[in-house]
Amino acid sequence: MAASHSDALVLFGVTGDLAHKMIFPALYAMVKRGELKVPVIGVALPKWSLEVLHKRITDSVKRSGGIDNKRALHQLLSLFKYVSGDYKDPNTFAAIKTALNKARRPAHYLAIPPPLFETVIKELGAAKLAEHARVIVEKPFGRDLASAKELNQVALSVFPEDSIFRIDHYLGKEAIMNILYFRFANSFLEPIWNRNCIASVQITLSEDFGVEDRGPFYETAGCLRDVIENHLFQLVALLAMEPPSDRDFGAVHREKANVFRAMRPLTRDDMVRGQYAGYRKEPGVAKNSDVETFCALRLFIDSWRWAGVPWYLRSGKYLAVTATEILVELKAPPQRLFADSAPGTGRTNYLRFRLSPSAAIALAARVKIPGKEFVGEQRELYLLEDQQGEEAPYERLLGDAMAGDGALFTREDAVEAAWAVVDPVLKTHHRVRSYKRLSWGPKEADALIASDGGWHNPLSEAASG
Ligand code: BG6
Repeated sequence: MAASHSDALVLFGVTGDLAHKMIFPALYAMVKRGELKVPVIGVALPKWSLEVLHKRITDSVKRSGGIDNKRALHQLLSLFKYVSGDYKDPNTFAAIKTALNKARRPAHYLAIPPPLFETVIKELGAAKLAEHARVIVEKPFGRDLASAKELNQVALSVFPEDSIFRIDHYLGKEAIMNILYFRFANSFLEPIWNRNCIASVQITLSEDFGVEDRGPFYETAGCLRDVIENHLFQLVALLAMEPPSDRDFGAVHREKANVFRAMRPLTRDDMVRGQYAGYRKEPGVAKNSDVETFCALRLFIDSWRWAGVPWYLRSGKYLAVTATEILVELKAPPQRLFADSAPGTGRTNYLRFRLSPSAAIALAARVKIPGKEFVGEQRELYLLEDQQGEEAPYERLLGDAMAGDGALFTREDAVEAAWAVVDPVLKTHHRVRSYKRLSWGPKEADALIASDGGWHNPLSEAASG
């Protein structure tokens, strides 16, 4: 039976940054496509008038790409109501109920600081606003295994699992959905997609800017919690999972959770933490902060398919370029028939997935250079080049959540299994190493991967085009 569509959106944190940067532009795009027609109740503490909120929404749309459809903007503004109140105060929830009027199946979107998730979920339950409703929760979902379990318990005491939508916006990206498709829509891949042919896999999510105005948030999170345990782990799951029995999203979720379960819990020597020069002077950052703005990991998946294959993950702020890439490196040919068939330096054959800013899939193989000698060079064959998805991740995910489609969200068991992998190194770890801004991070991260050919540094957008 098709799930019924939510008949209102309650947006907690409507005056916050996330709403301004991501959610308003997504709602605007949804209105333009005729996908958002239900009332939107914005909730936050400041005593704003509807007029001030309208200005904020208009400003957000202007900044994110401009107003190219005045009617749609007007329509979006007309959908909004505003409730001002404290999330701990039952009166706030009574006011939400009144604002919901005849709506019976609201989607509650918690775009608020994580420490408030539990409070709001409990109050939604107490105010009877959870019946037939959905809840959409922003990341980070918990800050370690124990808190994730507790949050799951609270959420599940108020909402059934299939009404809880845990957002990882990476899953809404077109290039990332393509990993699932590419892996299971092609038969040539399966025979090589295992420890027999794959030497290592590495993923880099690098950004050439700092924490900007998010110093206080970063101090409570750090790179491991901010992007590795969620975004990069999701990529690992898609690359490493067994074929799901069918397209039903329950089957996909099960296989992804199995990957996390098979991951070996990390130890302190599997991880290098870095901090960019000057981080401690950022607003809201402690003078002696040991929070990492860079993190590199080596991990193993102890399964039949992946035994012995190292997976390297790396992310950081203020690195040399902004790009996300995956490199799946294949083993060298078993026989050295040509002097360069197992290159002493440089890469063996590989598959490269560029996920952002642009998308590409390239397969690198060696071909002979014309001439008497049997020597060659590695060339990349592009299977996909520079494709952009039609919907931005937040549009896609919000639309899916309101329609009750949980395929691109994370599930309780996967969230907990992923935390279990990183839990040991959240507290027991080496101190951060300083690195120069716009470099590739501390040199200790190079040592981590040295025996597997070193890091592949993605090119900047200008250089890759
Ligand atoms: C967010 C992190 O989840 O993902 C940010 O909090 C990070 O620190 C961002 O910059 C990266 O996502 P995207 O889509 O901008 O590549």
